[in-house]
Amino acid sequence: MPSPLRPPALAPVSTVILGTGSFAPAGILTNAELSKRMDTSDEWIVTRTGIRERRIAGPGENTSDMAVKAAAAALADAKLTPADIDLLVVATITPDLTMPATACIIQAKLGIPTTAACFDLNAACSGFLYGLDTACAMISSGRYRHALVIGVEKLSTIVDWKDRTTCVLFGDGAGAVVVGGSPRPGIGLIGTRLGAFGESVDLLHIPGGGSNAPATPASIAAGDHTIKMKGKEVFKLAVRVMEESARDILEQHGLQADQIACVIPHQANLRIIEAIAQYLELPLDRFFINVDRYGNTSAASIPLALDEARRAGRIKAGDLTLLVAFGAGLTYGSALIRW
Ligand code: COA
Repeated sequence: MPSPLRPPALAPVSTVILGTGSFAPAGILTNAELSKRMDTSDEWIVTRTGIRERRIAGPGENTSDMAVKAAAAALADAKLTPADIDLLVVATITPDLTMPATACIIQAKLGIPTTAACFDLNAACSGFLYGLDTACAMISSGRYRHALVIGVEKLSTIVDWKDRTTCVLFGDGAGAVVVGGSPRPGIGLIGTRLGAFGESVDLLHIPGGGSNAPATPASIAAGDHTIKMKGKEVFKLAVRVMEESARDILEQHGLQADQIACVIPHQANLRIIEAIAQYLELPLDRFFINVDRYGNTSAASIPLALDEARRAGRIKAGDLTLLVAFGAGLTYGSALIRW
C-alpha cells in the first residue's frame, strides 16, 4: 500500500546537513597481512599511499547492509526516522545487484515510505558530492523535505586481489547524511563545483560486465570484471584537478583558504592530500585524514570522513568546511558547507 502523500513543502532558503552517520565493517586487513599474500610490504604501501589498513566486508555483508547502518546512525543524529525521508540518493559503484537500484533495497530494509524517490548514482569517488548536490537541489525546489544521501562501497568485490598495484589501495565502508531545508540564509551547502573528464575513462575503469561487454567465461578468465588503473596518470590528474576545483570554489565565494576550518578530501592517498595542502598553503592538520585506517572507499570516503570529523569535534557551529573529491569517470567535485 502506498504511504499517504504529503503536501508539498515550501521552498527553503538553505539546505543543511541535519545528521551524519558512518559504518565500517569489522574485518581489518593490515598491510602486514597483505605482505603475506603477495609481493608487497608495509613500508612500500605506507610510503606511497599512507594506508596502513583497510576494512573488508564479510561475505554476507552487502553494500545495502553497510548503507543501512550508516543511514540509521545519520537518522538518529538528525533525530528523525525513516518515515521522515522522501528522497534517497545512493552513490555507489558496487551495487548489491546490477538491477534494480540498491537505493530500493535500502529503502525496504530501512522502512522508508513508498512515496519516497529512491535512486542510485554512479560518479565513483566523487559520487557523494554529486549525490549531495542533487539532493540539496531537490530539497531547494520545495518538492522534497528530507533526503538521505549515502556513499557506500564494497570495493573488495571488484578489486583484483592478484594485482598488487591496485588491491592495496581500496577498502569497504559507508557514510550517510540527512539533508533538510532551513529558513536561515547563508548556512548549509553554500556552493558546489562538479565536473568530469570523460575522455579519460580508461585511466580507471572496469572493462567487463557492462552492456558493451557482458560477462563471458573468457572475460572472467581475463579478469575483466575488476578495477584497472593507470596509477601514475591518475595520481597526477587527481592532484591537479582537486587543486583547481578547491581553488575555483574558494574564488567563486570570495574566500581565502585559511578561512576553511576543516578540509575533508577524498581519502585516496596521503601524498595527494599533502600536495593539495601545500598548494592551498594550509597546514596538514587543517585536513581530516583517515586514509591510514580505511584506504580508498570511493563514494563512502567523504561521508565516512565527514562523520568521523564531526564526532571528533573537528567541525563546530559557524565553521566552513571544504569537501573535495576526484574519481573514475574521471569525475571531480568540491563543496562548501557553513555549519
Ligand atoms: N608493493 C610493492 N611494490 C609495488 C606495489 C606494491 N603494492 N605496487 C607497485 N609496486 C612496484 C611497481 O611494480 C614498480 O616496480 P618497478 O619499478 O620494478 O616497475 C614500483 O613499485 C613503482 O611503481 P609505481 O607505479 O611507479 O609507483 P607509484 O609511486 O606511482 O605509486 C600508486 C603507485 C598506485 C600508489 C600511485 O600511482 C597512486 O597512488 N596513484 C593514484 C591512485 C589513486 O588514488 N586512485 C584512485 C583515485 S580516486
